[in-house]
Amino acid sequence: MEVRKAVLPVAGWGTRFLPATKAMPKEMLPVIDKPIIQFIVEELIEAGIENLVFVTGRHKKAIENHFDVNVSLEKHLQEAGKDEMLNQIRKISHMVNPIYVRQKEQLGLGHAVLTAEPAVGNEPFIVALGDIILQEGERHVRNMLDMFKRFGKSIIALFEVDPQEVGKYGIAKVKKIGDDAFLIEDVVEKPTPEEAPSNLAIVGRYVFTPLIFDMLKSTKPGKGGELQLTDAVKLLLEREAVYAYKVESEVYDTGNPVDYLKTLMEFALSREDTAEEIVKFLRERLRLPEALS
Ligand code: UTP
Repeated sequence: MEVRKAVLPVAGWGTRFLPATKAMPKEMLPVIDKPIIQFIVEELIEAGIENLVFVTGRHKKAIENHFDVNVSLEKHLQEAGKDEMLNQIRKISHMVNPIYVRQKEQLGLGHAVLTAEPAVGNEPFIVALGDIILQEGERHVRNMLDMFKRFGKSIIALFEVDPQEVGKYGIAKVKKIGDDAFLIEDVVEKPTPEEAPSNLAIVGRYVFTPLIFDMLKSTKPGKGGELQLTDAVKLLLEREAVYAYKVESEVYDTGNPVDYLKTLMEFALSREDTAEEIVKFLRERLRLPEALS
């Protein structure tokens, strides 16, 4: 069966970003001039996924508005002769055919995914976290979809992290079964470096068979009463094979202030319209000699 839908869980509190996220979703924080969530939406659309299911909550109206038509803004840009910006703004509102489902209580990522079940139905689907940007994201999603065509089972994206950092992630134990394919044998949520079965972390992109919904229904709430997606994946592993896809390019976690700032710097240093000024600014601030360009 073909993968036609993606679920984007964007209902979290974003507590690591308070007070900025008191009334504004963290997924709408800008990376220079584009909200984080737009990078993820573009990645999915470019990979051919047209039906996007956003799992939203209170204070998340800004996401809905961002992907909706803004008639008065369009009129203003038209009258001001800002055609290029007008086209960009129009493109965003025609980009997606969204379905919004509401997670009434923030009971964890697993619960957010389960909330999307009525909109997904009995078919395979992608889950893309609303705060992780992947470099070359479209290519990765396409590769994961190709793997799904090959194996017909769930595929989870992993990336290598510093062994000292494993405690921040869900970590997978994998077995190599081909040049680019791995079978997942186990997953552990936020292990200590000693407990960790590897340094391969779950990165926020998944292709799931609909069996994950049944697994989520059987999952017991963990820390803070939250339903963990990783716990449901553990149950899924007992029922059917789950494959791993390795992301070799950069992963930008924007869910906490420090990694968000690093993401901003990376983009600022790689964009033509900002790089020169930012390099100059940093060199002055860090008192770097010209030779260290
Ligand atoms: P995070 O754990 O990074 O988001 O979840 P959070 O809970 O909003 O952040 P903190 O820990 O309080 O700072 C990853 C993604 O899952 C969504 C979030 O919106 C984020 O995009 N999520 C998380 C939900 O949709 N519902 C939840 O109950 C929890």
